[in-house]
Amino acid sequence: MENNLSIKTENLTKSFGGITAVKNVNLEIKQGEIFAFLGPNGAGKTTTVKMLCGLISPTSGKMVICGNDAKDSQLEIKKIIGLVPDHPFIYPKLKGVEFMQLVGDVYKVDIQKQRERIPELLKMFGLDEAAQDLIETYSLGMRQKLIIASVLLHNPKVLILDEPLVGLDPKSARLVKDIFLGLSQKGVTVFMCTHILEIAEKLATKIGIIHKGELIAVGTKEEIRSNKTGTLEDIYLELTGGIEYMEILKYL
Ligand SMILES: Nc1ncnc2c1ncn2[C@@H]1O[C@H](COP(=O)(O)OP(=O)(O)O)[C@@H](O)[C@H]1O
Ligand SMILES: [Mg+2]
Repeated sequence: MENNLSIKTENLTKSFGGITAVKNVNLEIKQGEIFAFLGPNGAGKTTTVKMLCGLISPTSGKMVICGNDAKDSQLEIKKIIGLVPDHPFIYPKLKGVEFMQLVGDVYKVDIQKQRERIPELLKMFGLDEAAQDLIETYSLGMRQKLIIASVLLHNPKVLILDEPLVGLDPKSARLVKDIFLGLSQKGVTVFMCTHILEIAEKLATKIGIIHKGELIAVGTKEEIRSNKTGTLEDIYLELTGGIEYMEILKYL
C-alpha cells in the first residue's frame, strides 16, 4: 500500500450534464486517520462519497482504496469499505437484530461470526434491549446507530459516513464519536462528511473543505489555520463565502 494510504484520489471529477459537481479533487488519507470532509450544501461531498464507494463512476480521474485501483477492483473495494449513506434505507418491518443479520448475509459474514458479533455491536451502541423490537418503533437516533453498527459487522478497513451524527442526541453523538476514535486507534480509516465544525475540530486528524466541487483547503486544523486568524468556523465561513452576521441582521 503506497505510503500506508487508505484513500488516494487523483483529479477526481464528476459531471452531471452541464454541472461539474466534483472538480479535480486530490486527496491522500492515511490508514487510521479521521478525515472530516466539510463544505456547504451542494459542494460535492455526497458525490465524492458515492464515487469512493463505487455507487457512481467518475467522469475522469483516479481512485485507489487501500492499494486497489477502483477501475479494476470494484468488488474488493466494496468489501473493504463500510458505508453509512446520507439517507440510509432501512426495513421498518424487521427487528433490529434481523436487520443486522441481513447486512451480515449481504457481506457474507459467516453465521458463527454473526452470532458472536451482532450482540456485541448492539450492546456497544446501546441497542441490546431494543434488538427484538421492530425498527419502525425506533427513533431516528436509534436507526442511525443501528446502521452504523451494521456496517461494522464485516470489519471494514475504511468507514465512510455521510453526515453520521444527524438525529443523534448528545449522549449518542458522544458514543459514536468515541467509537470512531477507538476504530481509528485500531487502524480503521474514518472518512466523514459533516456540517458540525466542532466535530471536525475535536475529532479529525485531517480536514478537507470542498466548495463548488473544488477542494479549497486540506490539512490538519493547524495547517488550515496557518496564516489565518479566528476559529475553524470563521475560517470555514471565510473560505466558503458564508453570510456575515451583520448581513443576516438586515433580513430579520
Ligand atoms: N444525480 C445528479 N444529477 C444531477 N446533479 C446532481 C446529481 N447529484 C448531485 N448533483 C449536483 O451536484 C452538486 C453536488 O451535490 P452533492 O454532492 O450532493 O453535494 P453535498 O453532498 O456537498 O451537499 C449539486 O449541485 C447537486 O445538485
Ligand atoms: Mg450531501
